Amino acid sequence: MQVMMQVGFYGHVRQYKNIQSEIDANIRRVLESGEYVQGPMLKQFEQELAAFHGMTHAVGTGNGTDAIWLALMAMGIGPGDEVITHPNTFFATAEAIWIAGATAVFVDCDPKTKCIDPAKIEAAITPQTKAIIPVHLYGQCADMPAIRTIADAHGLRVIEDNAQAIDGAGDGFRIGHLSDATSTSFIAQKNLGTFGDGGALLTNDPDIDGRVRKLRNHGSTKRNVHSFGFNSRLDDIHAGVLSAKLKHIHEWNDQRIQWSSRYSEGLRSAANIDLPSARPRYRHVFHLYVIETKNTAHRDPLVDFLVQNGIDAKTHYSIPIHKQEGYPWGKGARVVGTVAHAERNAASCVSLPMYPELTAAEVDYVVAKILEWDKAAK
Ligand SMILES: Cc1ncc(COP(=O)(O)O)c(C=O)c1O
Repeated sequence: MQVMMQVGFYGHVRQYKNIQSEIDANIRRVLESGEYVQGPMLKQFEQELAAFHGMTHAVGTGNGTDAIWLALMAMGIGPGDEVITHPNTFFATAEAIWIAGATAVFVDCDPKTKCIDPAKIEAAITPQTKAIIPVHLYGQCADMPAIRTIADAHGLRVIEDNAQAIDGAGDGFRIGHLSDATSTSFIAQKNLGTFGDGGALLTNDPDIDGRVRKLRNHGSTKRNVHSFGFNSRLDDIHAGVLSAKLKHIHEWNDQRIQWSSRYSEGLRSAANIDLPSARPRYRHVFHLYVIETKNTAHRDPLVDFLVQNGIDAKTHYSIPIHKQEGYPWGKGARVVGTVAHAERNAASCVSLPMYPELTAAEVDYVVAKILEWDKAAK
């Protein structure tokens, strides 16, 4: 009999311990500098982040949600405008559209990648449409060339919601390079996560950079001089943590990719589940490793079985946005056509533990338990 193991969903503490001296040194530097808000560490990290993406501007924000709506506002998108996205994403993608005052328009996802299906976008475009927000869901870049082509044909802006795929890439293009702006999130559980909340907006457009920089700081770039704005800054302590971690993100994502291959090889024979699908030549950085039960009725029993066996399995995201209670809360919202693939994804998804600090024994234990469940599944 296999010994019961506990496999957590996150590896934050393991990661901290692995590079503790680098993180602690940066935190100490900030503490001793006496500059904690919009100080030198934030400036340094913004430059490092922009350079990492091969882009010119990065603006740290309080979180990834704010980065999206700040970008929309900086582009002048708000009430009366429509923004197209898909409903099988974290709630914040749509929430940001609503915070900006715009209407969220939902189209279906691609059945394989779960990212927005570009073939569904054009039917949703109206004279009010101003932007598309593709989400690089689970760590896989959306089909950006197709999305950019549609956006150009209709004069639309594109904001990439890259909360989940930092250091990911497409076939021959990089995240951030085919859009007007790209948001990211640094909440603890992201591939590049701090010890709390944080976010950033990346752009090559100096106008968007300048506007977001001002909006995030009470509409101010000069002491005592303000226009309408908000308070949404990335604190210097978080910037220090992220600066230390940024140096490791590529190798950490490589490790995630290795664990994803180990899961996929181990689970290949399971008859009752579908495995995640990575586009050829894309760098899928597996923020989440999400399997789907072929029979939606199997999903909750599988999650229960894994939890009972010490494995912290979760679902991302089991209720699509348009099915949340009270939707759309008086906000502008439209679903265009069928969103059957998004709904199926919500009903069948199971996220397995995925972080670089997993061990082979832990991955193998998860595989063994799923195969055990699979054999008995009816
Ligand atoms: C796809 C997606 N968009 C936006 C966000 C919002 O980021 P934050 O939690 O930093 O506001 C998240 C994560 O939380 C996310 O996963």
